[in-house]
Amino acid sequence: MTDHILIERAGDAGAVNVIRFNRPDKKNAITRAMYAAMASALADGEADPAVRVHVILGTPGAFSSGNDMQDFMAVAMGAATGSEVSDFLMALASLAKPIVSGVDGLAIGIGTTIHMHCDLTFATPGSRFHTPFVDLALVPEAGSSLLAPAVMGHQKAFALLCAGLPVSGEEAERTGLIYKTVSADELEAEVFAAADHLAQKPPKALALARRLLKPDPDLVAARIREEGELFAAQLKSAEALAAFQAFMARKK
Ligand code: COA
Repeated sequence: MTDHILIERAGDAGAVNVIRFNRPDKKNAITRAMYAAMASALADGEADPAVRVHVILGTPGAFSSGNDMQDFMAVAMGAATGSEVSDFLMALASLAKPIVSGVDGLAIGIGTTIHMHCDLTFATPGSRFHTPFVDLALVPEAGSSLLAPAVMGHQKAFALLCAGLPVSGEEAERTGLIYKTVSADELEAEVFAAADHLAQKPPKALALARRLLKPDPDLVAARIREEGELFAAQLKSAEALAAFQAFMARKK
């Protein structure tokens, strides 16, 4: 259990399953407990016939700063293991119901790649999508190595995922990484209006239509596993440990 993830049902008859990051003092960095809470919230929403749509939101100024660095460090040093991250990724990649997300500010690492599984992402123009995987001696995850080139083309995907170049909300909209930029004042209203709109659709037809548009879920799951193996090996490398230690020591 963690209060760093808040779960609620919104919309008519609780049709909207809302997952909200609630760790603003750490820019919503995601711990293993938070991944576990999100995986179980998605599974609960998928199993509940009243739920028609999932929504995922951050806090003002930060959607998420990505995987918790302390957790990375613990795994790198062999002090922690666990399936929470892959449980969450597999739950996300296998959703039958649509998912809408809203971003204001930082969207780092998995804070960016989550949206590649979303159907409608709204973000403020100044949001910052950034995946410094290679700078941390890691590799892209969450199926992003398959999904991003399909959406943005190789060069934009390479710039984001390999060169680690940040992308603003405006550029994310231009490249097709997100659906639409909106002002910070409008963000939540737009996200919930989109969720309510989808919740009114015939659910089976919507699930079928969504499935037809998305890449084969087996291929995505296979890529997530392949990335995960490389990521896990890199996580234990000396170059990754040095990058995590540099982050920890940056304020000293
Ligand atoms: N894991 C753990 N803690 C994190 C974190 C992360 N991914 N990102 C931020 N935090 C913590 C900071 O340690 C700091 O905690 P403190 O106040 O106890 O020192 C707090 O959140 C605020 O971060 P800070 O760095 O002071 O804010 P900033 O506005 O100067 O920078 C970031 C924000 C997100 C740009 C910067 O913290 C950062 O680069 N974080 C790492 C992001 C990352 O590489 N994630 C993994 C991607 S694979």
